[in-house]
Amino acid sequence: MKKYLLVFVAAFLSMGATAQKFDQLAKTPPMGWNSWNKFHCDVSEALIMQAADAMVSTGMKDAGYEYIVIDDCWQVSRDENGEIVPDKDRFPHGMKYVADYVHAKGLKFGIYSSAGSVTCQRRPGGFGHEYQDARTYARYGVDYLKYDWCGSTTQDARSSYTNMRNALYAASRPIVFSICEWGSSKPWEWAGDVGHLWRTTGDISDNWNSMIDIFKRQKDLARYAGPGKWNDPDMLEVGNGGMTTEEYRTHFSLWCMLASPLMAGNDLQNMTPEIKSIMLNKEMIAVNQDSLGRQATCYRDNGDYQIWVKMLSNNEKAICLLNLSDEKKSVLVDFALLAQARSGGRGFGGPPAGVVPGAGMPGAQGIPGGQGAAGAQKAQGVPGLGAPGSMGVPVAAPGAPGGMGPGGQRGLTPLNLENYRVRDLWDHKDLVLKETSMYVDMVPHSVKVYRFIRK
Ligand code: GLA
Repeated sequence: MKKYLLVFVAAFLSMGATAQKFDQLAKTPPMGWNSWNKFHCDVSEALIMQAADAMVSTGMKDAGYEYIVIDDCWQVSRDENGEIVPDKDRFPHGMKYVADYVHAKGLKFGIYSSAGSVTCQRRPGGFGHEYQDARTYARYGVDYLKYDWCGSTTQDARSSYTNMRNALYAASRPIVFSICEWGSSKPWEWAGDVGHLWRTTGDISDNWNSMIDIFKRQKDLARYAGPGKWNDPDMLEVGNGGMTTEEYRTHFSLWCMLASPLMAGNDLQNMTPEIKSIMLNKEMIAVNQDSLGRQATCYRDNGDYQIWVKMLSNNEKAICLLNLSDEKKSVLVDFALLAQARSGGRGFGGPPAGVVPGAGMPGAQGIPGGQGAAGAQKAQGVPGLGAPGSMGVPVAAPGAPGGMGPGGQRGLTPLNLENYRVRDLWDHKDLVLKETSMYVDMVPHSVKVYRFIRK
């Protein structure tokens, strides 16, 4: 009888251990490097090992970058047992050797495959080999799997990725699962239990328009992100040559604001000082890695001028002013109002929680005398108020009921400018505010990022 009871208890316990994703991983957005954006199929053992070396020697590891991920083209075929076969010319010692090297540097190792029968470069995909591949990856010492969507036919995305999630779980090695389905089946709606991050769009290219187009597509997705589950607007292009330094600074800042994974995609061995100072901006990285895990929401959208807010732990916040236009802008910024700004609740992209409806709506920009911008009234007496390019910020009504969705900060004491010092995260200086409002000059395609730090 006792024996039966034991068997029953064991069966019950094993039922409890049903497949799931490894849920203690990626509590903050994953940071690392991936070979694709710069090197495409030109990957090799030497390249990956050099990237690991550079990750350490450049200070990137110390700044928080952790994963070294080999993207497509490391694999060439399957053997007679269906085992995946790495490219012997490019990886002569096999994948475990590379993984061991990466681990010895104190870093983590990632690899790539696809849920279809072939990868995007027509290498063997994972379809039909999920459990076998997961065991193989565990044997290699893989810590991160990027799983693409090429070669898929009539597969259902959610079932396919869930199948691979289960396979990874069964293989018993904690592996961050990066879903790369390009947003086609709205993975943000179903992938929270399946993967740790999911691509929301097609591939990024190394130019301003592509980067900004992807950025704009993240606007309504903030509610889906949080610790262990991140929207992925694709890997960084910073340093690859197709944008200006200013544009790369904007790219990096926006990805930090969005709590996006920060996967460098450049040649780490050959970074200019300007690129290093972007990739290694620890104050921006701290915004990205904040433990609250909030994705920024759009607080004001005047088309080519926007304000984004990312709530941070300890009732702090990062505010990003974004000049999308090709013109210089001088914008009137009311820091007292920004001190009260919060992320939107439901309906991101709409008026933020607690904002008096109609006050200072986007039309307030450039209205002579600041009329119509309730927020601008506070700034009366500031020279040039309402001059073209100035922007009123709406009055926040701290503690106003309603509107606190998952992105809101219910229960937090509303704070004012007196409770904060305001730090410019690119100048690395606290602002000296003579008035609560100030004109800020912005060159084309640039950002200003301020952290409101509790005094
Ligand atoms: C797809 C992915 C890219 C990259 C390539 C590799 O296009 O979206 O990020 O992995 O495949 O072939």
